[in-house]
Amino acid sequence: MRRMGGGVAVLFSAPVRHRNGDVDFDYRQGSDFHYLTGFPEPDCVLVLAPDRQEGRFVLFVRPRDKEKEIWTGRRAGVDGAKALFGADQAFEVSKLDEELPKILENAPRLHYRVGVDRDQDESVFRAVRKVRDKLRLGVSCPPVIQDPHVDLADMRLFKAPEELALLRRACEISCDAHREAIRDVRPGMHEFTLQGILEGHFRKNGARRNGYPCIIGAGDNATVLHYNENDSQVREGSLVLVDAGAELDFYTADITRTFPANGKFSPAQRKVYQLCLDAQKAGLEAVRAGNHFLAPHEAALAVLVDGFLDLGLLKGPREEVLEKETYKAYFMHKTSHWLGMDVHDVGDYKVSGEWRRLEPGMVLTVEPGIYISQDCETAAPEFRGIGVRIEDDVLVTSSACEVLSSSVPKEIDELEALRPRR
Ligand code: GLY
Ligand code: MN
Ligand code: MN
Repeated sequence: MRRMGGGVAVLFSAPVRHRNGDVDFDYRQGSDFHYLTGFPEPDCVLVLAPDRQEGRFVLFVRPRDKEKEIWTGRRAGVDGAKALFGADQAFEVSKLDEELPKILENAPRLHYRVGVDRDQDESVFRAVRKVRDKLRLGVSCPPVIQDPHVDLADMRLFKAPEELALLRRACEISCDAHREAIRDVRPGMHEFTLQGILEGHFRKNGARRNGYPCIIGAGDNATVLHYNENDSQVREGSLVLVDAGAELDFYTADITRTFPANGKFSPAQRKVYQLCLDAQKAGLEAVRAGNHFLAPHEAALAVLVDGFLDLGLLKGPREEVLEKETYKAYFMHKTSHWLGMDVHDVGDYKVSGEWRRLEPGMVLTVEPGIYISQDCETAAPEFRGIGVRIEDDVLVTSSACEVLSSSVPKEIDELEALRPRR
């Protein structure tokens, strides 16, 4: 509330998304809303008014309703919003039109993110119009509308100790699940069976959701960046790429490992894998407080480009590969993104036009990849159909960085040892 600099903030809970018939998609509260309230229900509105006598933290919530609660679950109601979630004041959400204009009267600014949802915009604008209609009575209407997400994103970018504890645990659960997948994969298995092993482990260990749909790509499927059909059979001799992260109490891991279906890398797979691993380690080395956000990408890219030239995947000169970005034939994404409540978490990547400096408390991924599709004509046949990504989650500290996902192996001999060939 200190960062608001006065005024009134209005935030809406995430909407329920209809799937079909009487079925909705699994509900997840919006990350900003959860961050501020911990309130898990839909159809709610949060109002923060730091200077308001009657209450600074106001929730508009669904009323208790015996009949509806039998069908669609329990509700905290107005009393629960105060008793269980610490609201200073709570109203039924149907009272928003009546109460919000009163709260907005004379506020120096309105903190509200316009353009997310038409109906939400309309209900806020209705309240603003009601206040404006009272100008002749000496009431002033907020002259400024400011996006609260900008400050919230900056707050969320720096993880508090309790957030870090959840991230660490989400990573730990995910690492254990990855180890299980590496050990249990067998040629002939479906990709979704491997998904079941990972998700079963997540759930058994307290993570009720994934942070994103699992990417389980065997063979050529590993060359599709956000592949999630996960319905092919794993073939003997293929590499399997698993990108999966457990979400624990709204904080998610984002981890990728690539390993051989039969427990042993082929010579071509070994070359591509080792190159990706060397690039990833170079990227991790560059995660240092004071370095800019793009430093890990630049470090990983330098290694990859040398490797692409060495393996004959690209032709030089090196400067031209970098300048014309021909490396994008095999490595088409960046190396890092922020990580937290959202897998691609909030936070500006540039400040005043410059890449942001890394600071203690930030968490980011380091995830170079090499993707050589089956129909790639520029690569030698032995390399076609190989996709590799190696992704770790890293906390920036004041000294060295801390890899939160280090307990799942990534060295070739470690991966082969984890799944001895029979
Ligand atoms: N799992 C999505 C990503 O790695 O960015
Ligand atoms: Mn990622
Ligand atoms: Mn990932």
